[in-house]
Amino acid sequence: MKQTPHDHTGRPAERRPAPVGNALPGARIGPATTSRRDLLAAGAALLAAPFVLHSGRAAAAERPALPIPPLDNGHIEGGVRVFDLEVRRGTHGFFPGIGTRTIGINADYLGPMLRMKRGETVRFNVTNRIGENMTLHWHGFELPAWCDGGPHQVIAPNATWRPEFEVLQRAGSYWAHGHQLHKTAEHVWAGMAVLMRVEEEDGPELPSEYGVDDLPVALQERRFTASGQMPYNPSMPDVMMGMAGDVPLVNGAISPRAEVPAGLVRLRIWNASNASVYRLAFDDGRPFAMVASDGGLLEEPVTMRSLVLASAERAEIVVDLSDGAPVRLVADTIPIAVGMMGGMGRGMMGGMMGGPMGESARRFDFLELVPRGRGRATALPSRLASLPPATRDMARSVRPFELQMRMGPAMMMGRGFAINGRSMDPRVIDERVPAATAEIWRITNASPMMHPFHIHDTQFRILSRGGRPPAAHERGFKDTVLVMPGEPVEVLVTFPDYRDPELPYMYHCHILEHEDAGMMGQFVTV
Ligand code: C2O
Ligand code: CU
Ligand code: CU
Repeated sequence: MKQTPHDHTGRPAERRPAPVGNALPGARIGPATTSRRDLLAAGAALLAAPFVLHSGRAAAAERPALPIPPLDNGHIEGGVRVFDLEVRRGTHGFFPGIGTRTIGINADYLGPMLRMKRGETVRFNVTNRIGENMTLHWHGFELPAWCDGGPHQVIAPNATWRPEFEVLQRAGSYWAHGHQLHKTAEHVWAGMAVLMRVEEEDGPELPSEYGVDDLPVALQERRFTASGQMPYNPSMPDVMMGMAGDVPLVNGAISPRAEVPAGLVRLRIWNASNASVYRLAFDDGRPFAMVASDGGLLEEPVTMRSLVLASAERAEIVVDLSDGAPVRLVADTIPIAVGMMGGMGRGMMGGMMGGPMGESARRFDFLELVPRGRGRATALPSRLASLPPATRDMARSVRPFELQMRMGPAMMMGRGFAINGRSMDPRVIDERVPAATAEIWRITNASPMMHPFHIHDTQFRILSRGGRPPAAHERGFKDTVLVMPGEPVEVLVTFPDYRDPELPYMYHCHILEHEDAGMMGQFVTV
């Protein structure tokens, strides 16, 4: 999407120097990378906020306005809500005066906010203008296999794919992204992802004015070259640890700011990074309430001061800004290769900085919220939704999944990751699962790294993590769950009543480099 010179209030963005001490307390002051130094030498991009972070000095940095993806309601054709999506290459202005080559959906980078209602039928006319095979997967949706947009629904260059399905999902934040076999990471890195929101009548009273007190916040980070490009050429450690960047992006803008009413503000947060696990917090340590997870509202708001969000996970949070003080949404990354230091399970979620394998914890200043005027002060409702029960005795059977890493030649050949002893083979159906039947999927992690495990075609419930009941914020509907080494996770999975004995759905690690290196399997529903 394009950055506009106006913020979402319609007023011209205020020009304002960043305050001194932009670097967060305790931030690692990294050496400026060659690429960034070259950018400086070129006299370009001096205003980019991350430079300030890295230099630890305040420069004449200013934060761009948070881009608000335009709402796209599609159009109605014979009772069906139809979206026309063109996936194309473009250039995006991350840095002033530099065109970075990207991929976007009806946009240069990322795309609009696709908005639909629960219960209606939607059709997507997805046209491939990127000049190579691609797919577009509806992440978080329960749908017939032919509509899934996984590796089997390849769209050839200049072709249009037209999936049509009923929106079964609860109101919430979903997304779509590229899923071409072995190319998922590269396509998403370039920008092939679009936000989606499902709405339904009769929700609880929450801030809901789009772009005003209800903000979409798609978090990513990218690595740029000397000329401001972001090619996808992962090294071996990048494949192992996931491709990570050092420049924080929100909706495609570098460390932006948003003016918001001085009251309750709702952030719909997507971890849309390729691989990073963020521990999110506000820089002044203020609490916030998580109100929704991947598949929509939680039963009750959960008050927290920090939140771990892995790649592909979503969370909606509500923060109280009625004190009028500007605040920043910041994140530390949690090193992926956590287990390589030995003996860490749960404990590491607490506060590790720096990991093995040269992986460093990075700290990002994602988004500044500047309260203006008066906003709504209404308290949050104490009850948000009622969820169906989720208990072990509802399950017919237990299906085990073991996440594995293989060093040596397999890793060198880009097949270093596996599930249940097999790297993804598009010719093999790994599991046949009864439709409309509850099962326990028991996911164990035999590798020394953490993996966000994602299952297509379902919203599941977490039954246990490390043998214990899940924390309050993990009790809602989920489609992706972070699985730590030595900490098995059991989820209660039910697929909708669609059957297709041939065409599979996927389950995989949502560290996209791991997915592309084989940590993915296929199942059919029968
Ligand atoms: Cu979001 Cu199979 O992926
Ligand atoms: Cu998915
Ligand atoms: Cu993984």
